[in-house]
Amino acid sequence: MENKVIKERTERTKWFLNDRFGMFIHWGLYAIPARGEWVKTNERITNEEYNKYFEEFDPQEYDPKEWARLAKKAGMKYAVLTAKHHDGFCLYDSQYTDFKSTNTKCKRDLVREFLEAFREEGIKVGLYFSLLDWTHEDFPHYGDKFHPMRANEAFKDKKHDFDNYLKYMHNQIRELLTNYGHLDIMWFDFSYEDMVCEKWKASELIKMVRDIQPHIIIDNRLEGSAENSGSIRTSNPTEYSGDFASPEQMIPPKGLLDENGNSIPWESCITLNNHWGYNSFDRSYKSPKMVIRALVECVSKNGNLMLNVGPDSKGRIPKESVKILEQIGEWMYDNKESIYGCGISQFDKPEWGRFTQKGNKLYAHVMEEQIGAVCLPNMAGKVEK
Ligand code: GLC
Repeated sequence: MENKVIKERTERTKWFLNDRFGMFIHWGLYAIPARGEWVKTNERITNEEYNKYFEEFDPQEYDPKEWARLAKKAGMKYAVLTAKHHDGFCLYDSQYTDFKSTNTKCKRDLVREFLEAFREEGIKVGLYFSLLDWTHEDFPHYGDKFHPMRANEAFKDKKHDFDNYLKYMHNQIRELLTNYGHLDIMWFDFSYEDMVCEKWKASELIKMVRDIQPHIIIDNRLEGSAENSGSIRTSNPTEYSGDFASPEQMIPPKGLLDENGNSIPWESCITLNNHWGYNSFDRSYKSPKMVIRALVECVSKNGNLMLNVGPDSKGRIPKESVKILEQIGEWMYDNKESIYGCGISQFDKPEWGRFTQKGNKLYAHVMEEQIGAVCLPNMAGKVEK
C-alpha cells in the first residue's frame, strides 16, 4: 500500500507540477542598505542600528499589480513573497509585533496587496516565512551559527526563552493562514544544525497548517535546507517533510528521486543576479537565454523553476530583471506548450539539447545548431508524426 504522506503529497502537488514556473520575491527593509537580505548578520548589525531602516522604509512606488502583470507576461503561474525574512520584519499586519510594514511610514499591509494583485491576474500565491528571527529576543543569539550577535560578548549571559519564540512564530503563521484567504504555498526557510524538525515543534505546526488550509503545499525546510532534502526523499517521509524539495542556486543533475528511484516533486530556486534581496552593486545578471535553458532543464528533469526578483526600497523590480522576464515571456509566448504539464521524456537526453514530454507528445529543445539534420536516436518506428 502506498504511504499516506506520499499519497497526499502527490494529490496536493498536481497543479504545482503542472505549472512548472514561478516567481520568488525577496523584499524587506534590507532593500534600503541594498546589500542583500543577509546584511544584518553579515555586518553584525544590532536591532538598534537596524531600526533606522524601519524608520526610513517608505516604498512609494510599490505597485504589486505591475509585478503581477510582469510575472504573467513571463509565463509564471505562481509567486511567493517573503512575508517575513530572517531579520524578523513583517510585510504584513501581525498583531504579535510592532516590527511590521503597517507601522512604517508607508502604513501598508504589503502582503495583502500582493495577494490581491496576483490573484487578480490568476497567479497562484504563496508566502515565504523565515523560521529564523534575528530581531526577536527569544531567538538564540550568542553562539548561534548565523545570528548577528553570535559573537557579541554583551549577549553572552543574556537569557532567552525559546518556547516563547516558538509560540510567537506559530502565532504569526496562524495569522497568515487565517487572515489572508486561500494560500497555495507556504515556504518555510530553513533548518540548520539542531534547529530542525521538532525543535520548531514541526508536528504541531504542520497539523495547524493542514487543519486551516488542507490544500496548501509546503516546502521541505522544516526538516531541510538548500543542501539537505530531508526525509522527503525516503519511502517513509515524516508528516513535516514537505510537499516538494527546494534545491537552491543549482539544478540537480538527475532531477530528484526517492530511494526507490521515483521522481519526487522539486523546485529549484534561482536568482537573476547573485543575490536574493536587492543589491545595488550586483550587476552580474544571467542572460535570458541561460534562464530559459534552466527552465527547460528543470522541466526535462520533472522539476519546477522559481526565479527570484529583489525589488528596491522604492518597491520597483530592478529594470535589468524586468528585461530578462520580458524576454522569457516572448519565448514562452511561442513555447509554453513545451513547459506546462510537461516533464521528463521517455527518451534519453539528446546531444544537441533536451526533450520535454507531455503524454505522447515530445518537445525537442534544440540548443546547439547541428550540421545537417537533427538526429533523433532510437525513435525509428515510434514516431507517428
Ligand atoms: C537561503 C537564505 C535566504 C534565501 C533562501 C532562498 O536559505 O537564507 O536568504 O531566502 O535561501 O531559498
